[in-house]
Amino acid sequence: MKVSIIGTGYVGLTTGVCLGFLGHKVTCIDTDEKKIALLRSGKTPIYEPFLTELMAAAQPNLQFCTEYAGAVKNADVIFIAVGTPPSPDGSPDLRYLSEAARGIGKHYDGDFLVVVNKSTVPIGSGNWVGSLVRESFEQQHGHKANGHFSVASNPEFLREGSALHDSLYPDRVVIGSDNNRALEVLYSLYRPILDQTFAPPPYLPRPEGVGAVPLISTDLASAELIKYAANAFLATKISYINEIGQLAEKVGADIAQVAKGIGLDARIGTRFLQAGIGWGGSCFGKDTSALVATAREYSLGMPIVEAAREVNRRQRDRVVEKLLGELKILKGRTIGLLGLAFKPNTDDLREAPAIDIARKLLERGCKVKVHDPVALERFEREYPDLAVVCCESPEDTADDVDALVLVTEWQEYRELNWEVIASRMRTPLILDGRNALDRSRLERFGFRYLGIAG
Ligand code: UGA
Repeated sequence: MKVSIIGTGYVGLTTGVCLGFLGHKVTCIDTDEKKIALLRSGKTPIYEPFLTELMAAAQPNLQFCTEYAGAVKNADVIFIAVGTPPSPDGSPDLRYLSEAARGIGKHYDGDFLVVVNKSTVPIGSGNWVGSLVRESFEQQHGHKANGHFSVASNPEFLREGSALHDSLYPDRVVIGSDNNRALEVLYSLYRPILDQTFAPPPYLPRPEGVGAVPLISTDLASAELIKYAANAFLATKISYINEIGQLAEKVGADIAQVAKGIGLDARIGTRFLQAGIGWGGSCFGKDTSALVATAREYSLGMPIVEAAREVNRRQRDRVVEKLLGELKILKGRTIGLLGLAFKPNTDDLREAPAIDIARKLLERGCKVKVHDPVALERFEREYPDLAVVCCESPEDTADDVDALVLVTEWQEYRELNWEVIASRMRTPLILDGRNALDRSRLERFGFRYLGIAG
């Protein structure tokens, strides 16, 4: 099948590479010439485990370009996977989505095209995209677009850091469409994933027990709402355990045991119950805020989602409060942050807690040292004005600091020689923002250990 993908961010690139790997002929379009040049040379603009390897495997089926014309003309399916960044009022900015829709209408010249919304878009956008595509087609071609296009919604549930795994072995595939022909096209596109008939790449083996993948076939609005409702639920689950964590700290309970104890109830589930400094990233913040903004348009409040956002915001303040409680005076102290990325296995810094925490500490008059195994280069590029000291290693970060804060739970931090780290610090105080380290081991090396909920 001939597939074009507009936008080569996490979602677009992962989708393109996976579909190319499955044997479809894929063209990825992005207006950013630098990005396209990089991709053509076999490199990826983002850090995502195994993306370079899978891209090499899919290479015979992959093309990259900056122009719509050739890629759109006679495609069978076009995915729109452009960014929908938040506007100041919390609603997503749909400028890129609208440009993509118009570009498709202008350049398509075939018989039947399925336009798939893969970006997280506000509820109702499917119909809007359809009208933009048709309008621009009719302007260009001078005749009605009837029957040439159908818009479907196919939300993505991949997590950064395990994006390829999540795309090849999804828990479910959701397709929103009211057109049977479009549904048939998308079924055949996803058939190898739905039936799990493809030969897995050696570095991304099929997990045991993965069989046929459930397909949710629904209307456009439901598919669009599924995406928001899933992210808001996951964000709420994390904020819930963080709220319980605050109480656990007061009553002397162990939040990890509490999370396990409630999570083993199959109705609740153990995942996304890791207490810590809370969620970051480009999705949970943006999507919860968009959900609240959409509800507001219908004069509806969303108190649960709003509370989840507020709890998450407060978790970041708690880092500063805890350091203050321990060190008494922050002005003039040196604090080291281990981890900048919003989660391990990515170099993404969008809404990363580390940035907020660094700012808060700088405002309090601290000197801040930072390290990240992967995201340091991106950090220096994107935050040139943040007056922190970038360190090449965790050991350098530890030199002469009054406290270290584990902000991102990279595996390499779990495996550090903590005895050496302690010896290089002014005072061996560690605030484990992800409750990821072995408290008793660290205490053996003389650390004063603080967890986020205990
Ligand atoms: C999230 C969803 O998990 C994906 O299903 C969805 O497709 C994606 O958003 C999206 O909308 O594109 P992502 O933001 O990449 O994926 O990463 P997550 O693994 O969900 O982590 C988000 C944040 O929550 C991270 O900062 C992580 O550290 C934090 N988190 C996660 C916790 O604090 N506790 C947990 O138990 C789990």
